Amino acid sequence: KRIAIFASGSGSNAEKIADYFASSTDVSIELIVSNNPKAGVIDRARRLHIPVLLFDRTTFYQTDRITHLLQQQRIDLIVLAGFMWLMPAGLVQAFPDRIVNIHPALLPKFGGKGMYGHFVHEAVVAAQETESGITIHFVNEHYDEGAPIFQAHCPVTPTDTPDDVARKVQALEHDHYPRVVAEVLATLPPRHP
Ligand code: GRF
Repeated sequence: KRIAIFASGSGSNAEKIADYFASSTDVSIELIVSNNPKAGVIDRARRLHIPVLLFDRTTFYQTDRITHLLQQQRIDLIVLAGFMWLMPAGLVQAFPDRIVNIHPALLPKFGGKGMYGHFVHEAVVAAQETESGITIHFVNEHYDEGAPIFQAHCPVTPTDTPDDVARKVQALEHDHYPRVVAEVLATLPPRHP
């Protein structure tokens, strides 16, 4: 099975996933797609010897190049790991139930446009939540509204800062995302040859 990872930021999840499958004989990370030429994930990809493809908004949304490229590469699963742009409708239609995302909160709470990165943890602390966590879900055309696949929880104490929550949530991401990706891959029907 062939994976493409989309990332816009530091890429710690992308690296954890690459490490998880490093010794696999039937799963490979074929490429990393990014929209940010300064993203830390690019340095990680270089170290991991994974090709990186950079897209600007126009190419990503005005052409079907990304869809054709992923089909040409026979990608089985698209894994979003901190990718800041909404999926183009054409890509979602070409990869039904073959795009997954991780959100650093317990959807449906603290989701939707603008709810990403540190803003999520600030909102959780401001709301005085007693827990937070991660949600891994299938991706459709709307932010964070695809079918849920997996959730993990962590406690939030009254003295926790957003950074404290971010640290606990990121630990859950690194602990669970690679394994959940493997579980989704195991359930995928083989793509037409
Ligand atoms: C993580 O918080 C993830 O939940 C969110 O974006 C962040 C990616 O972090 N989707 P990294 O770039 O993988 O370190």
